[in-house]
Amino acid sequence: MSKKEDLTSSEKRDSFTSKTGFILACIGSAVGLGNIWLFPYRVGQFGGAAFLIPYIIFIVLLGYTGLMGEFAFGRMSQTGPIGSFKMALETKNKKWGGFLGIIPVFGAFGIAVGYAVVVGWFIRFLVGFITGSAISSADSGAYFGQIAGPFGSIIWHLIALIIVTIVLISGVSKGIEKMNKIMMPAFYVLFVVLVVKVLTLDGAVDGLKYLVFPEWSCLLSPKTWIYALGQAFFSLSLAGSGMIVYGSYLKRDVDIISSAKNTVIFDTLGAFLAGLIIIPAVFAFGLDPAAGPPLLFITIPSVFKLMPFGRLFGIIFFVSVLFASITSLMNLLEVPIEAVQNTFKLSRKLSVAIVVIAAFLIGLFVENGDVLGSWMDFVSIYIIPLGAFIAAVMFFWVIGIERAKSEIECGSEKKLGKLFEISAKYVFVFLTIFVLIAGILLGGIG
Ligand code: TRP
Repeated sequence: MSKKEDLTSSEKRDSFTSKTGFILACIGSAVGLGNIWLFPYRVGQFGGAAFLIPYIIFIVLLGYTGLMGEFAFGRMSQTGPIGSFKMALETKNKKWGGFLGIIPVFGAFGIAVGYAVVVGWFIRFLVGFITGSAISSADSGAYFGQIAGPFGSIIWHLIALIIVTIVLISGVSKGIEKMNKIMMPAFYVLFVVLVVKVLTLDGAVDGLKYLVFPEWSCLLSPKTWIYALGQAFFSLSLAGSGMIVYGSYLKRDVDIISSAKNTVIFDTLGAFLAGLIIIPAVFAFGLDPAAGPPLLFITIPSVFKLMPFGRLFGIIFFVSVLFASITSLMNLLEVPIEAVQNTFKLSRKLSVAIVVIAAFLIGLFVENGDVLGSWMDFVSIYIIPLGAFIAAVMFFWVIGIERAKSEIECGSEKKLGKLFEISAKYVFVFLTIFVLIAGILLGGIG
């Protein structure tokens, strides 16, 4: 297909208006619960600063291969995974690519269902800090227990979905891009404010020591490397879904190589800042830096209860995590929305409505804290890595590494070397299979 044809086929398709807008949307997708409630915990669990070595190696490697690949795959096919896989297999006269594309669409949708529940909890806590109820409750565990109990947060769940619906109905440039341009810079500013506040607390130094003191022996344990890999995958939203779809709204003159680089840098920065807030804050008050929901919804609220001006800082904290998670949720929902819109040729409004209502109804069943955990585990262990694997095979093998390379280079001043071919075609594809198998064996690594 010539460049001209590509452009005409995208005539009616909405697109990002600028490279900055695109990059911020990708950062918005990447920075989410993975950075905030998993990364700090993993750093503590696997050797402090030592964990950063495998993590940085993997995030750079995945950014250089998988992330650029997904952006370029979407931009080439001008659609999400269903259309992209279909197009790839059609070059080999096979017609079932579209079916394979359903896998990553379900992966993104599955994560979105759980994410929406959690975004609802964030809104609930933000309101709780504004009214003061989250801080005056004697027992943070019981306070959260009520919210996370069966059907304990339907209203908040609904509010979360209504907010994203308004953004998504407005489209890519006027909705997604605009919101990311506001929310992501605000997220970094607010997080830096929190880092400064937390590091000036008495006792924060202990947390800082726990966080940065490198236990080099951890590097000898394969688990450190495996968890760093899983973390890097999930954090970059590599699943053959969200980043392909955002890439499909990209113009051909945008530099994919530098966009991927920026996404990696800011995603990592987001994770570091989260670590610098959460671990020292928890240590300053002698609490336990557990992982997952209890950390953000029980431990952290307890911290704000004890901290001077805790109510104000609690508000700042929940506003920023709300921004980080809403922008990820928008990306996750955009995948099934694009799929419905394109497959059934429906209007944007109707497609958004179908997907959001389905996410809400299914979400009602996972609203209970325990069910939510199993649900997220299932999707992130089996479906997410499978989507990343199929997408990588489709682009780097079926479409072919030569074409993949020129699609990535299009719009960029830099050229990719021979090293790229080997890293993408062999190393990255191998790592996607590895994440799938390791995830199954270890019960989740992302
Ligand atoms: N990367 C996000 C996080 O760290 C989650 C996410 C957003 C995601 N979009 C995605 C994961 C698409 C897989 C696929 O929380």
